Order: sequence, then C-alpha cells, then structure tokens
Amino acid sequence: MSGCIANAGHSRPLGALNVFPTADGSFSLHSEYFDEAFHNSAGALNEACAKFAQPAELTRFSGGQTLRILDVCMGLGYNTAAVLDAMPTPAPNVLWWGLEIDRRPLELALAQTGFCSAWSASVHQKLILIRDCDGWDQPESRGTMLWGDARQTLHQLPQDQQFDLILHDAFSPGRCPQLWSEEFLHGLAIRLAPGGRLLTYSRAAAIRASLQRAGLKLFSLLQVPGERGGWSSGTMGMKQFKISFGEKGPGWRALTAMEHEHLHTRAAVPYRDPTGEDQAEVIRRRRSTEQQLCGLEATNTWHHRWTAKQRHG
Ligand SMILES: C[S@@+](CC[C@H](N)C(=O)[O-])C[C@H]1O[C@@H](n2cnc3c(N)ncnc32)[C@H](O)[C@@H]1O
Repeated sequence: MSGCIANAGHSRPLGALNVFPTADGSFSLHSEYFDEAFHNSAGALNEACAKFAQPAELTRFSGGQTLRILDVCMGLGYNTAAVLDAMPTPAPNVLWWGLEIDRRPLELALAQTGFCSAWSASVHQKLILIRDCDGWDQPESRGTMLWGDARQTLHQLPQDQQFDLILHDAFSPGRCPQLWSEEFLHGLAIRLAPGGRLLTYSRAAAIRASLQRAGLKLFSLLQVPGERGGWSSGTMGMKQFKISFGEKGPGWRALTAMEHEHLHTRAAVPYRDPTGEDQAEVIRRRRSTEQQLCGLEATNTWHHRWTAKQRHG
C-alpha cells in the first residue's frame, strides 16, 4: 500500500488503558474513560470466536468469491484476526475495512507475545500492516483502516461499498451510545449486502429494535462457554434475501417469545443522535426523556413475568 502514514494523529480518547485479565488467558484492556473492559471476563479470544467468527459461517464463501468485511471498533483486532484465521480452504478473496478511534489498543496488543502467537503468520502480518501502514494490499486481499470517530469515518467508505459481514463491537450502549444510535445502526444496516450479517455482542432491546427497524431480521447468539448466565450472548441481524433463513445455525438461533416481548418494553426505546455529533450524555438524556413519555411496558414488569414463567416451568 502506498503512503504509509504511520501513527499520524495520535489521540487518547480512551483515557488510561490498563491490562484486563480474562478467564481464557487472552490479553485484554480496560479503558479508564469509558470505565469498561474491552471484553468480558470469559475471554477476548473466546468472545471473538464464538460471537463473531462462528456465526459468520465463513464456509458460505469459497475460492474465487470476495468476502467484504467491516470491523467497527477494531480495538486490539481480535474479531478481525479470528475471522481471517477461520477462513475455509480455498479461501475467498478478502476486502476489509476497519473503523477505530484510538491506535493504542492494537499497538499494545502487538507488543504482547501471547497475542501475536495466537494468530497465523499471515494474519499477524496484516495486523502489523494495519498498525504501521493503515492497511495492506496483497493480490487476493486488501485492507483499509480508517482512524477516527466511526460516526464520521463511516461516511468515508466508498459510497457503493457493501459488506457481507459487519462486526460491531463498541463499548456498551449505556457507555458509548454514539455508536448504538438509531442513525448509526441504520447507517451500518444499509451497508449490508443482501444476505449479509451484522454481528454484535449486544442483546439490548434498544439495539435490536433499531436493527429491526433498519430492515434486518434478528437472531440471538448462543451463550459463549465460560460466560456468566444469561438468555443471549448477542445479536445477529441479517439483511433479508430471497432465500429463507433457517431457525438456527452455528452459534445462533431464532429469538424466543421472551426476546420478542423485550422489544416492546421501555428498554427498546432507541438512542437517538440525529446530527451524528452529540455527546454521550446528551444522547442518554434524550432517550431517558423519551422513555418516560413512551407508554411502553416497564422492562421490570416484563422481567418479572418471564422469571415467574420460567420458575413455574
Ligand atoms: C469493546 S472495544 C473493541 C474491542 C475489539 N473489537 C477487539 O477485538 O479488541 C471498543 C472499541 O471502540 C473504540 N471506540 C470508542 N469510541 C469510538 C468511536 N467514536 N469511533 C470509533 N471507535 C471508537 C475504542 O477505542 C475501543 O477500541
């Protein structure tokens, strides 16, 4: 790739970054500014494989085809690396784009021998090229990293660029509502190619309802081994296609009745960021006002109803 703009525009939007130990031993970080870890305690590698690589069902793509991937919030690079390392043989060509605001997570990860040795040599090399040259350009594979606020860099993608896979891994909606707004999620959904999949660890009703309104069919991600209890490990949104979808696949299943009802509670009120420039606090306050006025069922009532149903079998 021509024009290596290594480390241009260093910024520290995450505040201090501290090492966050995870159960599978994989290296992760905690951001002081967001007061949140990059991965859950079950493990960064575990999460990347179970919530992103597995439900992506990469065997749908084969040699000669092109797999178009968008990694939103690339961070240390686990999701991209896990997907690239899980390619079938013969592998499809890869066209990759990444969005990320801070260079340090990838730099810190690549300074860890354990992180580097988790990947094949060719995937490790791509991560180095993202760090040093903002991407790579190889005969059958091209990657471009766009550093900056994803709300803006999303608009720097070529206008007609569509994706087969969007990996969405921002900090949680409560902490980073900018990247979970109705508008931002809609902007991602319209980038999905027919049959394309958006994968995220979030099972929040607000996020699911926004994805549904953006025209995606929703599925639930199965619990990751070692993850603490819960009824879902995330969401897969599929762009409708002429072939019908199955009700389950590797790492995913249809939404349950409980999950459908969740989408009609106050928790489903979306985060709104009409200009794409609002601060997190403004977006949170706007949502809270809308929740007070919305007339939807209280989420606690939904929760108690389903807890009681499950207790009585
Ligand atoms: C949960 S971490 C992502 C973990 C990552 N996918 C991985 O595999 O390591 C969230 C990431 O979002 C990035 N981020 C936060 N705000 C952002 C923004 N406005 N635009 C782009 N990236 C942002 C953070 O720098 C952080 O790397």
